[in-house]
Amino acid sequence: MKTVERIKQPIHAEMEYFESKFRHAMHTNVPLLNRIMDYIVHRKGKQMRPMFVFLTAKMVTNGGFHERTYRGASIVELIHTASLVHDDVVDDSNMRRGFFSINALWKNKIAVLVGDFLLSKGVLLSVDNGDFDLLKIISRAVREMSEGELIQIEKARRLDITEDVYFDIIRKKTATLIAACTAIGAASVSANQETVDDMWRFGETIGLAFQIKDDLFDYTDDQIGKPTGIDIKEQKMTLPLIYALNTCSKEEKKWVINSIKNYNKNKKRVKEVIQFVKDKNGLAYAEQKMLGFQNQAIQMLDKYPQNKYKEALVTMINYVVERKI
Ligand code: IPE
Ligand code: IPE
Ligand code: MG
Ligand code: MG
Repeated sequence: MKTVERIKQPIHAEMEYFESKFRHAMHTNVPLLNRIMDYIVHRKGKQMRPMFVFLTAKMVTNGGFHERTYRGASIVELIHTASLVHDDVVDDSNMRRGFFSINALWKNKIAVLVGDFLLSKGVLLSVDNGDFDLLKIISRAVREMSEGELIQIEKARRLDITEDVYFDIIRKKTATLIAACTAIGAASVSANQETVDDMWRFGETIGLAFQIKDDLFDYTDDQIGKPTGIDIKEQKMTLPLIYALNTCSKEEKKWVINSIKNYNKNKKRVKEVIQFVKDKNGLAYAEQKMLGFQNQAIQMLDKYPQNKYKEALVTMINYVVERKI
């Protein structure tokens, strides 16, 4: 059985029900918007965020869940989808989930509005049902995602990013949303505040590993359903490159920075920078860091009772770092 299927097994019924709810949550009477929503639903991603919501809710209650848990799962996937639609505009990326991105097909103007629509649908789903505690958790994640993306843009302009700033960026732009998933999972079944906070830290730790993995993909030629090798083109400096710059000579550093500043659209030069990062063990270093977060996250589950949901969560943490897409 494929890993994802194995993870989904204990929450199979919930995930099926979620999918029908999710489609419903995107409803609109505007024909153009409806067509785009159809397009999005038919190209679903890995759905890891709803899986985190359900598995956490069930782990902390030993199998319990609540109608609120479904809405929590829908909210996070709506917000996640909105963030990807906007991200592809920001990154000028024409491919997502193995097909054309929304901006590639309908242009930036429409993609920006589609992202806003999805965001508002997520917010309304919470407001209409009085899930204000869940809304508070997700709103914090949305704020941090925007902040993280903006720090990233600022650093791409100045090319002066440090490892600390890198971790601050990925915590904000990616880890916080996964933290929101696990916190919402716990909050949706009325776990106490201590557990909700603990699950937030747990998800955040997974999220750091998740984004390092995503940044490592960019250094490969793997078929992951979205472009690779675009970070340097977009002047985005991620952990492997930051490490390489910290361990090389002044002359090498000058060459790398000059390459990224002035030759970022030159395919041959970008390839040379990628090779340089590999030669300096940048990928191995980033991998080590990622495995550190993986282990930390698994240990954070020690104090929770053993059940099949916890087992699936552990499998999922391993999947975050071992996945091929
Ligand atoms: C992509 O997330 C965005 C990042 C935070 C790197 P996923 O890899 O979970 O995207 P989908 O939903 O499966 O397409
Ligand atoms: C993902 O950013 C995080 C958000 C969507 C805010 P990236 O730009 O690194 O992710 P991919 O690689 O395009 O999915
Ligand atoms: Mg981006
Ligand atoms: Mg991107």
